[in-house]
Amino acid sequence: MKAGVIGLLFSATVLAQEAAATFGPLTQWVPRTWNGANYACKCHPGDYCWPKPIEWSNLNATVGGNLRVNIPIGAPCHNRFEGPLGTVNTYNAAQCAAVTAGFPDEQFQIEHPTAGLWTYFTNDTCRPTTNPTDSCTLGYYPALYITAKTIGHIQAGINFARKNNLRLIIRNTGHDFLGRSVGWGSLVINTHRFKSISTTNKWNGPGSYKGPAITAGAGVQAFEALQHLNSFKPPRIMVTGECATVGIAGGLVQGGGHGPLTNFYGFLADTALQFKVITADGTLRTANAQTNSDLFWALRGGGPAAFGVIVEATYKTFNDLPSSGINLDINLSTNTNETLYWEAVRKFHSYSNNFVDNGLYVYYEIGPVPLNLHVHPIVGINKTLPQLQAIVQPLFNDLNALGVGYTTSSQTFSSFYALYNAMFEGEMAGNSALTGGWTLARTDVENNHPSIIEAFKTVINAGSFIVGHMWSAGHGLPRNEWGNIAINPKFRNVVDKLITIVPVSGDAPLAAKEEAQNRLTNVVDGALRAASPNGASYINEADPFQPNWQDAFFGTNYPRLLQIRKKYDPNGVFYSVSTPGTEQWEQIETGTRLCKKL
Ligand SMILES: Cc1cc2nc3c(=O)[nH]c(=O)nc-3n(C[C@H](O)[C@H](O)[C@H](O)COP(=O)(O)OP(=O)(O)OC[C@H]3O[C@@H](n4cnc5c(N)ncnc54)[C@H](O)[C@@H]3O)c2cc1C
Ligand SMILES: *[C@@H]1O[C@H](CO)[C@@H](O)[C@H](O)[C@H]1NC(C)=O
Ligand SMILES: *[C@@H]1O[C@H](CO)[C@@H](O)[C@H](O)[C@H]1NC(C)=O
Ligand SMILES: *[C@@H]1O[C@H](CO)[C@@H](O)[C@H](O)[C@H]1NC(C)=O
Ligand SMILES: *[C@@H]1O[C@H](CO)[C@@H](O)[C@H](O)[C@H]1NC(C)=O
Ligand SMILES: *[C@@H]1O[C@H](CO)[C@@H](O)[C@H](O)[C@H]1NC(C)=O
Repeated sequence: MKAGVIGLLFSATVLAQEAAATFGPLTQWVPRTWNGANYACKCHPGDYCWPKPIEWSNLNATVGGNLRVNIPIGAPCHNRFEGPLGTVNTYNAAQCAAVTAGFPDEQFQIEHPTAGLWTYFTNDTCRPTTNPTDSCTLGYYPALYITAKTIGHIQAGINFARKNNLRLIIRNTGHDFLGRSVGWGSLVINTHRFKSISTTNKWNGPGSYKGPAITAGAGVQAFEALQHLNSFKPPRIMVTGECATVGIAGGLVQGGGHGPLTNFYGFLADTALQFKVITADGTLRTANAQTNSDLFWALRGGGPAAFGVIVEATYKTFNDLPSSGINLDINLSTNTNETLYWEAVRKFHSYSNNFVDNGLYVYYEIGPVPLNLHVHPIVGINKTLPQLQAIVQPLFNDLNALGVGYTTSSQTFSSFYALYNAMFEGEMAGNSALTGGWTLARTDVENNHPSIIEAFKTVINAGSFIVGHMWSAGHGLPRNEWGNIAINPKFRNVVDKLITIVPVSGDAPLAAKEEAQNRLTNVVDGALRAASPNGASYINEADPFQPNWQDAFFGTNYPRLLQIRKKYDPNGVFYSVSTPGTEQWEQIETGTRLCKKL
């Protein structure tokens, strides 16, 4: 795959000079042309500037022997892994059985150093199989990885990637929907081992907040932090995503981080007090309200893996609260026909503003085949079940009046932690899909609701799933704190955050991939954008190839984010798609080489 794909149409020397003039003389660039345009690319396996074995072995020594050539997670089911760094015999029946069973399990995949839980952006080139002669190739999986155990290991990885102009990927849990924790021919720094947790009752850093806080290493996952906080008397909680296995100090906070507590305390990023972060120059820095405050701002919603590698993060914590929840299912088996089903969806969804104004968080899914609405759960934090039922009863009255069949159940808990563990359903790994998404603004739900439901129908008819999250990040957080973080200010007026999911296999023919991407961008998300023009897009759960991504993701904060990116990472040591300052970057040659367009 590295053989001369493209003939150079002009002198490599001229191109190298041009690249050096643009990006500085220190790094070496690989000139390529692709679809008639000229590019300067990072150094990938086989390139003249790819580090020599002795350089890799020096790096290995610096990182305590924790550098490895990557072997994809599915390899034990295949006779051979044929990678750009050589061929390895990989078949192992016991390991194959384990990986086959574990592939749909999030934590199983998280424990593998380079797996991507949503597999589309790995290119699905080495899935578990019952036929060992099936090929296993690198696809878009990384070439090598460092299992970082110290700050020095991360610094060594960053410095090595910068000096050798390698593609660098930071990988925590591998949850990223957009493929940001994998990348062809790259070097990975895996942060999963950074599991330290400490707490204080009285934060004494800069800023006016003096309450309790948690400091978590880069590898800490939501369930670990919540479990730790629950052991206190009285039990404590913090803002996390609804998914318990997502990391709390990696991509989540850098995108913003929404969850069931967002109605009370805003995004996870709103609760951040401090980061320890290593920037592109390899320097470990503290970022808080006083020191490197620009970086502190950018790390809170400015996009993942764009400004540095977070080593640890400190967040506010809060007293846990009694909570209750209600589930609701509507589908054609409980219903007469499709018209009535959509009427029920319309009724349900028309309560978005009402629900978030009452502090409720609602997680729901709408699936195309069979048509179903799965609301699981409607969460009332700090609400008794009767209080929650009183808020939701008008919806049930409407459904009854329509004659809609549904099933419902409810539960009440002494803590939000207990509800979180009992009512949120586990999620699966190993799916291949393109994911997109949009958010619905309060005003659009108020003024344009019929169009929103028409857009839902368009999405479903186009074969996409919808995952909805009703919350308001402006509900509990004081208005004077709304502007403190880098997230698109439009998010304060959002009442429903939608993910769209278009299934497509990572090894589908290129034409099928193009068709799916086009359907996602233009039909599915296009319908939602048109129905909620005041909405925005969430960088962790959206289509990175949507039009005007800068505005959709960051709105009026984009120019400042761009400046901060240029200050801390002027040469693009870090790259993740559609983050500030990546306009010129492309993965050319069918998703492989990472290059800057000249
Ligand atoms: C099942 C599921 C449920 C989800 N639920 C929610 C939800 O409720 N709320 C919500 O807001 N989001 C949710 N998400 C999206 C989630 O926020 C993103 O997938 C997020 O990027 C995951 O971060 P991670 O660090 O765990 O994963 P990774 O895939 O390892 O990393 C994601 C991105 O962050 C970068 N990164 C990771 N660690 C670091 C670090 N230490 N320093 C710098 N960059 C780093 C990576 O390079 C990559 O770009 C969900 C995702 C999934 C798959
Ligand atoms: C790094 O060193 C360890 C320990 O000596 C060794 O097992 C591993 O193969 C080395 N990695 C590479 C990429 O050579
Ligand atoms: C990725 O998959 C596409 C087919 O979907 C294929 O054409 C391409 O060669 C693959 N690339 C790699 C590096 O696996
Ligand atoms: C669907 O069901 C509703 C309510 O029972 C009924 O009024 C309507 O005529 C039905 N529509 C079709 C197409 O069957
Ligand atoms: C929880 O509810 C009680 C009583 O209704 C109220 O006094 C308290 O402020 C609420 N707590 C939060 C965090 O909203
Ligand atoms: C349809 O609804 C019934 C009862 O409400 C439920 O048991 C079933 O799981 C639902 N089916 C789907 C596909 O959601």
